[in-house]
Amino acid sequence: MRNLLTLMDYSTETIEKLIIDAHAIKETKQTSAWSKCSYPYILEGKNILLYFEKPSLRTHLTFEMAVRNLGGNPIYFDNSKQMGREPDVDIAKNIARWGLDGIVARVFSQTTLETFMKYTNVPVINALSDLYHPCQALADYMTMKELTGKNWKDLKLAYIGEPNNVSNSLMIMAAKLGTTFTICCPASMSPDYLLLKQCQKLNPNIKVSCFIEDIKDFDVIYGDTWYSMGDEYTPNKALILQAYQINKALLTALNIPYVLHCLPCHRDQEITDEVIQEHPEIYQLAENRLWTEMSVLHYLFY
Ligand code: CP
Ligand code: NVA
Repeated sequence: MRNLLTLMDYSTETIEKLIIDAHAIKETKQTSAWSKCSYPYILEGKNILLYFEKPSLRTHLTFEMAVRNLGGNPIYFDNSKQMGREPDVDIAKNIARWGLDGIVARVFSQTTLETFMKYTNVPVINALSDLYHPCQALADYMTMKELTGKNWKDLKLAYIGEPNNVSNSLMIMAAKLGTTFTICCPASMSPDYLLLKQCQKLNPNIKVSCFIEDIKDFDVIYGDTWYSMGDEYTPNKALILQAYQINKALLTALNIPYVLHCLPCHRDQEITDEVIQEHPEIYQLAENRLWTEMSVLHYLFY
């Protein structure tokens, strides 16, 4: 049985196939050929739990759509209001009894996904945790392929801002695909040391730098919130990160054509309103969440 927890255990070939299939699904879904292929029936008769401990617009709605497009039945459960009524292991043991066929889970802790995997015996998909956001990263790379048309090894991607779950997953993808990847962040911040070393072993073109000039002439600059869900607001952090805001002057100085952001964004904090308005590829990325999630469901269930 397959799961999608981190992408670290996925081969380069599997990741490439997931993205190629996502492009094919995107193309076919808009045509009459869709009803004649097997995709609309892959999840026929299957109930997929969408278990969310945190808010979501994109991940929730695209997984609802993805499951329905493949003929399945999504069941949304908002666990944010449970206020710790029962431990993960009991939740998992209950879920296991109801004949659900798969679990898409957005959780505070990666360990919850591991508990679900251990006790439910159905595919578990990470829909964002404290450490990773693999579904996001798949859509990110699909979008970069559409934008640049470049081979993975020729692509140069910069993540700017505080390293977090989103940059961890981008880094894993870079490690697997050989993409040049730099995390540009203040010297006082750094990605998880062990994960960084593990990724650099697979791909030496993965770097961390506090110098903005180090990402000059890259193809894509990627931003995320400075305060992830559950993070405490500390004004000091915003001050430290101010020099790493994605704004027009920065883009001009760096000569970077494409801007991506996983959304939601905080206008005029990590990215300016002007940049968002001038870079519709940010919404192209949001669209591609749907196609990559359909590709993931196909891979896990077919
Ligand atoms: N990018 C992303 O995961 O968006 P949501 O938090 O709205 O799901
Ligand atoms: N890093 C952000 C991503 C939101 C999609 C968070 O975890 O809140």
